[in-house]
Amino acid sequence: MGVPVPDSVDYILLDEATIRNRVQEMADQISADYHGIRNEDFLLVGVLKGSFIFLADLARCLTVPHRVDFIALSSYADKAEATGSVRLIMDTRADVAGRHVLIVEDILDTGYTLRYLYRLFGAREPASLRTAALLSKPDRHKVEVPLDYLGFSIPDAWVVGYGLDYADRFRTLPYIAALKPRVYQK
Ligand code: IMP
Repeated sequence: MGVPVPDSVDYILLDEATIRNRVQEMADQISADYHGIRNEDFLLVGVLKGSFIFLADLARCLTVPHRVDFIALSSYADKAEATGSVRLIMDTRADVAGRHVLIVEDILDTGYTLRYLYRLFGAREPASLRTAALLSKPDRHKVEVPLDYLGFSIPDAWVVGYGLDYADRFRTLPYIAALKPRVYQK
């Protein structure tokens, strides 16, 4: 059965099993890389809202102890795509100084958001700083940004589901789907 596929969906890009398997692989890699770390030293920072489902699944697959925190940024509504400007709406609760920080993003599009976060956290003297993103659209990148863990490279289309939205819709679809271009191209 499952949830009916919305009419706005063009095609399903990544189904549930494909996502689950890849998230498990990413978690295995992260667990290996951070082997032996103490709970209070390892901080996963999810970027709201898009990463909340990815972060929840990734964190539950980790075998190393870790803490979870969140940060919220402005979206494209104020022309961030054109200008590269990103605004901080909500900061983490935890102090990142001296901790091993892993930024967890939903998708790398132009790269401005992750670059902003990388600089922001880099300036806070973490013990180490790495980045993870479930998705990346290489054809859309405008700036270079270090990415340590990537789930999937995808074509240039607007994708929704598994936490990703379009105008705050489609976030809780269990798969990742490309929208029909007429939905997002004015
Ligand atoms: P960037 O700063 O251009 O790399 O974009 C980062 C943010 O734009 C992501 O964290 C998403 O919130 C949003 N975004 C970019 N592409 C998509 C998409 O295809 N679907 C949903 N959100 C997207």
